[in-house]
Amino acid sequence: DMGGHDTYMHKEIHEQADAVDRALRGRIDDRFSTVHLGGLNLDARDARAVRRVKILGCGTSYHAGQIGAQMIEELARIPADAEPASEFRYRNPVVDPDTLYIAVSQSGETYDVLAAVQELKRKGARVLGLVNVVGSAIARETDGGIYVHAGPEVCVVSTKCFTNMVVSFGLLALHLGRTRDLSVADGKRIIEGLRKLPGQIEEILANEAQIEELAKEYADAKSMMFIGRVRGYPVAREASLKLKEVSYIHAEAYPASELKHGPLALIEPAMPTVAIVPDDELLEKNRAALEEIKARSGRILAVAHQEQEKADHTIVVPKNEDELDSILMGIPLQLFAYYTAKAMGRDIDKPRNLAKSVTVE
Ligand code: F6R
Repeated sequence: DMGGHDTYMHKEIHEQADAVDRALRGRIDDRFSTVHLGGLNLDARDARAVRRVKILGCGTSYHAGQIGAQMIEELARIPADAEPASEFRYRNPVVDPDTLYIAVSQSGETYDVLAAVQELKRKGARVLGLVNVVGSAIARETDGGIYVHAGPEVCVVSTKCFTNMVVSFGLLALHLGRTRDLSVADGKRIIEGLRKLPGQIEEILANEAQIEELAKEYADAKSMMFIGRVRGYPVAREASLKLKEVSYIHAEAYPASELKHGPLALIEPAMPTVAIVPDDELLEKNRAALEEIKARSGRILAVAHQEQEKADHTIVVPKNEDELDSILMGIPLQLFAYYTAKAMGRDIDKPRNLAKSVTVE
């Protein structure tokens, strides 16, 4: 039942405020400015013993893991990174007992992720799951974890589940941070930021008409560039994947800082750029990148916290805490991908060549 929406993708994009609310519900502990994650099976002593975090997933879940790794480094100051599960399992990885491994999956059935989990367990590692489907294979095989509580996701392309994964990583980062050096004041600040998310998601979705117009305007592009820096880079990668999947427009994602090392050669009026421009300590650097693109007559669509003078168009999103902005900045670009695909008459819920759950190698 699509409840008045024309596709599951549209329905699921609009379910995100409720979904995030569900991910937060019952987990926040205001007394100690931390969170309770019941299924984690990681006591304070275990949490303190973690020297490194390695996050594994595929596709959109891998991108959620990239944002998660940044949050864990920022809030808990534990070295963390994400890697595609398939790459990890084929390179005979060094498995370290002091590393906490986290497998991320919507379906909980993706074969490459499951195989990575099994290989890790065989080598004696501790593996947690960050999973949507309760009781799925990855949820069963891991030593504990976090259910992201996005609810059923029917559209082949992931939207609300991605958002809830990133929110769940925010909770985990806060938890790990508060067992270490994250202060009560910073814990409070992050909790307040998390609580603002559902209302801010509603604000972004209320801007749908502008995004629809912009999608129509850019739907003639053969190829698009997505750029971001540090926190904005995984957002750019996920937005680029979304556009490819549903519209079949070619898209590339680059760190804004890498443009001058090659991809700038592609910039011309027929190659628009979508730029993620958060109002944080890198704002001026990002503005300089917009200037470089403008100097090559590139069209620019910015997703930012305030109008960007150098951009042809700006989608303004509400500001949260710097560490949590990535959760919100991709949401308008889900709608952008959806409306681009719609303008092109694509089969939005079932893009060609793709399946909802990839249970083969
Ligand atoms: C993208 C998408 C895929 C999945 C990937 C992993 O919109 O849906 O990239 O994210 O196949 O699937 P899960 O999360 O079920 O392991």
